[in-house]
Amino acid sequence: MISSPIEEIKNKLDIVEVVGGYIKLSKAGANFRAPCPFHSEKGPSFFVSPARQIWHCFGCSKGGDVFGFVKEIEGVEFGDALRILAQKAGVELKKQSPEYDQWKSERERLYEICELACKFFEKQLEEGITGKEAKKYLLGRGITQESINKWRLGYSPDTWQGLSDFLTLRGYQKDEIQKAGLALASERGSFYDRFRGRIIFPIFDLNSQVVGFGGRVFKSEDPAKYVNSPSTLLYDKSRILYGLDKAKVEIRKKKCCILVEGYVDLIMVSQAGSENAVATSGTALTPYQLHILKRYSENLHTAFDMDLAGNSATKRGIDLAQNQGFNVRVITMPGEKDPADVILHNPQDWGKLADETKSILEFYFETTFAKIDSADPEGKREISKILLPVIKRIPSKIEQSHWVQELAKKLKVKEEIIEEEMKAAKIMDAEGSGYVIENMPGPSTVIIKNRKDILAERIASFVIKDPKNLNLIDDDCLTFMPPNIQAVLTDLRQQKSPQDANFTNYLSLKAEAEEEEGIDYGEEIKMCLMEIKKLGIKRRLNEISQDIKIAEGENDSDKISGLVQKFRETSAKLISNI
Ligand code: UTP
Ligand code: MN
Repeated sequence: MISSPIEEIKNKLDIVEVVGGYIKLSKAGANFRAPCPFHSEKGPSFFVSPARQIWHCFGCSKGGDVFGFVKEIEGVEFGDALRILAQKAGVELKKQSPEYDQWKSERERLYEICELACKFFEKQLEEGITGKEAKKYLLGRGITQESINKWRLGYSPDTWQGLSDFLTLRGYQKDEIQKAGLALASERGSFYDRFRGRIIFPIFDLNSQVVGFGGRVFKSEDPAKYVNSPSTLLYDKSRILYGLDKAKVEIRKKKCCILVEGYVDLIMVSQAGSENAVATSGTALTPYQLHILKRYSENLHTAFDMDLAGNSATKRGIDLAQNQGFNVRVITMPGEKDPADVILHNPQDWGKLADETKSILEFYFETTFAKIDSADPEGKREISKILLPVIKRIPSKIEQSHWVQELAKKLKVKEEIIEEEMKAAKIMDAEGSGYVIENMPGPSTVIIKNRKDILAERIASFVIKDPKNLNLIDDDCLTFMPPNIQAVLTDLRQQKSPQDANFTNYLSLKAEAEEEEGIDYGEEIKMCLMEIKKLGIKRRLNEISQDIKIAEGENDSDKISGLVQKFRETSAKLISNI
């Protein structure tokens, strides 16, 4: 009998298939490999072992089982990973399982409320009298029925408690509905729906669970075009990018992410074939959003109104993205149009525009020269004030000098003068951009192992690969090993099953990953052993000379001569080992 859902899920799923759903794996002997999705690299150091059902990156040292992979790549907690994989495996998570109970807490109830609300709004769009009008409006804007279903668009009726009543009837408390961001309590204690008479765009988290809503005005005179969910336990607008759940696989495949501004734009762009797009929901990109995006691609193509003059929010977001190492390119729209307008007019136009991206510098040059008269001396100064800080920031000197030349040519001034002025130009950096970075996960830490660990791991992995090499490991050797390797080798010598199965699995995968043609594992082990002993002896010698220094300070001649003797003996060992 299988005791826990975790085991059941692991039995039903193949890690190669799960990982392969996110990144492209290629076969490498008994294993699969790929460039690591968790740190940037060119060579493939990321391995997946079907036999052991584990993964490991030998570049950044991250690794684990299928749950760990989903947690890492989706950026979610264990509970969410459990839910995602349970769904993939067709395993039902029953209330009885303690892992599930623990996790199914307030958050879970809020998820249920959001999901129910979404269904309620969807139904209103299909069946409500005004809902049907709202639907007609959406179809009129070029959004297809298929897209309405895919994005789960809805309508919130223009009543004060339509949704709240619906939810309380289903057993949810008023304060829970409020915590889900769907209702408000007035000062006088009355309780009413947040979304009334609006077209509803549900907002999804990375697992496509509904966590919030955007409501677009429809028919009413309300001056607020959009009403959005407030921050809740599930929804934090600075962390969520609208549509990323549906776009993430395509973003990886196409190696680029298109950024649009609005819900409508995104739905239309995706409908027009660019499924690698997300929407910023009208706000500047935040460090958090960029951090999440980076997992999928470092290439961003913006398709929104780029007011890059001065210190606009858009410009800050773009600067921040560039500072974080993104390659940003610009999709430009004719006139004042946004992507939704272009696509409504002719979907094919969008495809062409999306392919013709400009570099940020080209874009800056074009827009600045279009706006300001470069014949006028005042204009020249204004133009250089906008462009010089941008040029100054270019990391490549060659590229930088290209744009200096370009600017000199277009302003009809000498290059030297531009160079001179550039020195004085101020660069706006991320620190100066007004962002507060809170609880920001740092860049994934690369664990740096010391030489002793590396050698010991190499020895152990070759012993695991070919157990006859165990003969080479004697008690003396063991004393030089770090404790974790000592434990593994001792278990092997005593033919016990490993105490730390994870670590042993990792070492086996390491041996396979490092499989080298024509290498004599026995010889290699001997060399590593010699090296590791030498390291140990050298370290000992160091310690002794420290002690000698101390003894000298204390003028303790007996102690000194004892230590010197010890030093001689130890260095003799070193020599005999070479
Ligand atoms: P837009 O005004 O461009 O809206 O704002 P839109 O989505 O394109 O809608 P249409 O085309 O006018 O119907 C872009 C995004 O900014 C956010 C929304 O996320 C919107 O999609 N926004 C805009 C708000 O949150 N509140 C607002 O009042 C306006
Ligand atoms: Mn619009």
